[in-house]
Amino acid sequence: MAYEHILVETRGKVGIVTLNRPKALNALCAQLIEELGQALDGLEADETIGCIVLTGSEKAFAAGADIKEMAGKSFISAYLEDFITNGWERITTCRKPVIAAVAGYALGGGCEVAMMCDFILAADNARFGQPEINLGVIPGAGGTQRLTRAVGKAKAMEMCLTGRQMDAAEAERAGLVSRVVPLADLMDEAIKTAERIAEQSRPIALICKESVNAAFETTLAMGIMTERRLFHACFATDDQKEGMAAFVEKRQPNFKNS
Ligand code: CAA
Repeated sequence: MAYEHILVETRGKVGIVTLNRPKALNALCAQLIEELGQALDGLEADETIGCIVLTGSEKAFAAGADIKEMAGKSFISAYLEDFITNGWERITTCRKPVIAAVAGYALGGGCEVAMMCDFILAADNARFGQPEINLGVIPGAGGTQRLTRAVGKAKAMEMCLTGRQMDAAEAERAGLVSRVVPLADLMDEAIKTAERIAEQSRPIALICKESVNAAFETTLAMGIMTERRLFHACFATDDQKEGMAAFVEKRQPNFKNS
């Protein structure tokens, strides 16, 4: 499918979506968000794909929601169209693992979209921030909630109240990103990581993602119970038999996604 603001490609079992609106530093306009949703629908439906990488340019993952598009909104128009929730959260409903490969600016909605992914791999030039306060609004795509869960109240509160940006090293120390790599290596590392995930048993990878995500939605006791039941469910798969047999026989497993 031809898109205007994104590029979509597949490399083996990995789907790559590149935000591609360079003149606006990948500002997330409504059309881009709609295209991103369509691309994720396509990659979810593609049985050959086991993991998705979402990335931007070297200068900007995304500099936020499109300020020019949003400037004229009223409360009633924002409310009636359910602005932000509508469409954006498609990333969070993706069942396949999604890695955000972030270089350059990930600000406002850009930081929020990165945090909607399953984890963030950052280039050493990445900068994260929630500068909405400077525009007379607050984050509207989960920034006050996901950033707080990722880095704790002190840093999240300071960043949301002041608009201060974190560089990649601080983001790694704070637990916002899983790893920082040199800018030149970002896509190779992201694709290598995605390939590793895509090589695993598909159902087990999905179950694993579901179980980790449960940690953010429930109590510890309920989360442990959810994990245990999902762990038990793994034993109903052929891939559990294959994975353990391969270990015993000292060979690589050949998962069949069943
Ligand atoms: N929306 C619309 N256009 C944007 C944009 C945005 N969020 N960010 C950058 N652009 C546009 C600029 O207007 C500019 O376009 P023109 O050439 O037509 O003027 C172009 O991208 C390049 O930007 P700059 O000239 O500003 O580039 P820079 O290198 O000097 O600065 C920057 C880079 C610091 C990221 C700066 O562009 C900036 O501060 N951008 C806005 C960041 C921001 O406030 N994001 C939050 C948006 S609100 C939000 O996201 C709400 C939410 O929670 C969902």
